[in-house]
Amino acid sequence: MAPSTSSTAWRSLPSSLVSIATLSSLFLSLTGPAAAFDCKDIQAQGQHFNLGTLGGPHKLHWVDEHLEVERRYNYTFDIDICQKLAWHKGGTKETECRHGTRICAYQEETNLLTDNTTLQPIEIAGTYTTGAHRLIDARFELFRKTGSHADADREGFRAELHGGRFPFDDSRKGLDQQAIIEFVCDAERTGLEGNEKDDGEKQDGDDEKDDDEKKDKDKDSSASLGRRESKCEDSDASLRFCGYDTEDAAEGKDKKVRTLRLEWRTKYACENAPDDTPRSHWGFFTWFIIILFLATAAYLIFGSWLNYNRYGARGWDLLPHGDAIRDIPYVLKDCARKVKDSVQGPGSRGGYSAV
Ligand SMILES: *[C@@H]1O[C@H](CO)[C@@H](O)[C@H](O)[C@H]1NC(C)=O
Ligand SMILES: *[C@@H]1O[C@H](CO)[C@@H](O)[C@H](O)[C@H]1NC(C)=O
Repeated sequence: MAPSTSSTAWRSLPSSLVSIATLSSLFLSLTGPAAAFDCKDIQAQGQHFNLGTLGGPHKLHWVDEHLEVERRYNYTFDIDICQKLAWHKGGTKETECRHGTRICAYQEETNLLTDNTTLQPIEIAGTYTTGAHRLIDARFELFRKTGSHADADREGFRAELHGGRFPFDDSRKGLDQQAIIEFVCDAERTGLEGNEKDDGEKQDGDDEKDDDEKKDKDKDSSASLGRRESKCEDSDASLRFCGYDTEDAAEGKDKKVRTLRLEWRTKYACENAPDDTPRSHWGFFTWFIIILFLATAAYLIFGSWLNYNRYGARGWDLLPHGDAIRDIPYVLKDCARKVKDSVQGPGSRGGYSAV
């Protein structure tokens, strides 16, 4: 970076900045949530929902005993609808779901005869772009638009998340996994009542007063529905486990998919829900400007430092392309004149002047 005399250096400055910015934005879009879905702006058939407050890992448990084969399966489900799960401290590839997972099942299998226990992570939903290319392919539908009788008296929406398989690496024999979460509108719940945090502690519900009333109402509605939603665990937590069974896949009778069914009661699933989480308005353009600014600053600082050290430059000469920068006002003036000329050009020739 010699003190600017060469015009090629001057010309390469903007193009190198542009390529830095392009690279950075490419990087942002690759690592960002673009490949998945934005929990703060879920679009279900024209309705927008903001589930930002339900983010973060949530835990559920389920014990499934198969006495006929002397096995007990103790499942722990980790769920983060907003971003991929982080590994537990000391976790390894053998004990954790692979990166990109949003819903992971930890299956603890106990042989009741020998008391031998093995732990197996099962990817249920997530976005995987290395190796097997499997996407979360999130689909949302409003209850009121399903046309199903069972959904008619509920407000909210159903989310279907894909991407998982077990065993994940076995594309022939691996069993596809998916999660179906029913977000049910309940104006009195945030959705975090009874939430088990990652350290295994229970969070108190905010509002315990009409629990019994609520339970009765639940029972009534599930009796009349007579659907698998009624199989949800008997718990007053907002997030409830409703099943983890192998079902026929939607796309073909002979295809099976193991489906984790959850129900999440929350006011954020109500249409016209209060939007009290501040939304980030930092779009692509803001990032672009920031990166451009930082790159320019870094370039000027580094260039000045170089000129100072190498050539003992002082004052204007410190800046890389100092004379070019000094010329900027004149270049701009020149540009403005050219633009003005070309705008006024046809008019002065009497071509297409406005009447
Ligand atoms: C299942 O696992 C959880 C967490 O590891 C544990 O707290 C619970 O006692 C286990 N239940 C059974 C029946 O083994
Ligand atoms: C427990 O089971 C694993 C895998 O099934 C097996 O490799 C191991 O030898 C068993 N351990 C005991 C103590 O039976």
